[in-house]
Amino acid sequence: MRKNIVAGNWKMNTTLDEGVELANEINTLLKGKNVNCEVITCVPFTHLTSVNAVLENDLVKLGAENCSEHEKGAYTGEVSASMVKSTGAEYVILGHSERRQYFGENNEQLLAKTKLALANDLKPIFCVGEVLEERENGSYNDVVKGQVEALFELSPEDFGKIVIAYEPVWAIGTGKTATAEQAQDMHAHIRKVIEDKYGKEVAENTSILYGGSCKPSNAKELFAKPDVDGGLIGGAALQADSFLGIIEAFN
Ligand code: 13P
Repeated sequence: MRKNIVAGNWKMNTTLDEGVELANEINTLLKGKNVNCEVITCVPFTHLTSVNAVLENDLVKLGAENCSEHEKGAYTGEVSASMVKSTGAEYVILGHSERRQYFGENNEQLLAKTKLALANDLKPIFCVGEVLEERENGSYNDVVKGQVEALFELSPEDFGKIVIAYEPVWAIGTGKTATAEQAQDMHAHIRKVIEDKYGKEVAENTSILYGGSCKPSNAKELFAKPDVDGGLIGGAALQADSFLGIIEAFN
């Protein structure tokens, strides 16, 4: 059966020292607590090794926020999936809307990144989500379907290793959360899209996270929905106590 997951995405925040301190705080707060979900912290490339050294892997798993679509070679400034893996990371966020919007990442690149992540034994947290205009003009279900379908070259076995994060772009960092009903409707739609391609078993086993202004005060209502299997958390993951508050929504 699918896992419940709360994952933090630090984005481009914290210096190395600040990041290590935050990871330490999260680790310490979780110790001895009754945790009913998998906890993942996705951090900038520069922080991976140092953060890994302070996280206890049975409490908090480590992830990166991106990786290259190329395997290796003359790509100055890029970081490959095998480099990410070699730091001890288990997860990698791919296709975040900020990567799609600001860095022009397209479906083809995202498929290449996903394949390389999987080939290097990293579990992708693959982000999808519509912009405000698409929400307002009613095309959001088709838009998100297209984003999920970008992965449909994968075998059922490989697709089964992927976590999907539905992050409506209009809800990211805006304080404007999707309602629990909007999230549930979209998550059920995504699960159906997966089922139509890969069958019921793969669809039922895929964790689908919600992201976008998720915080301790709204996490419980969102996570109570049957197809919402947790959250991908931006701003509220930058403080250990609010991150913990979201994790505790599963208690
Ligand atoms: P916020 O929680 O800050 O809205 O960010 C969500 C997000 O983009 C996580 O990947």
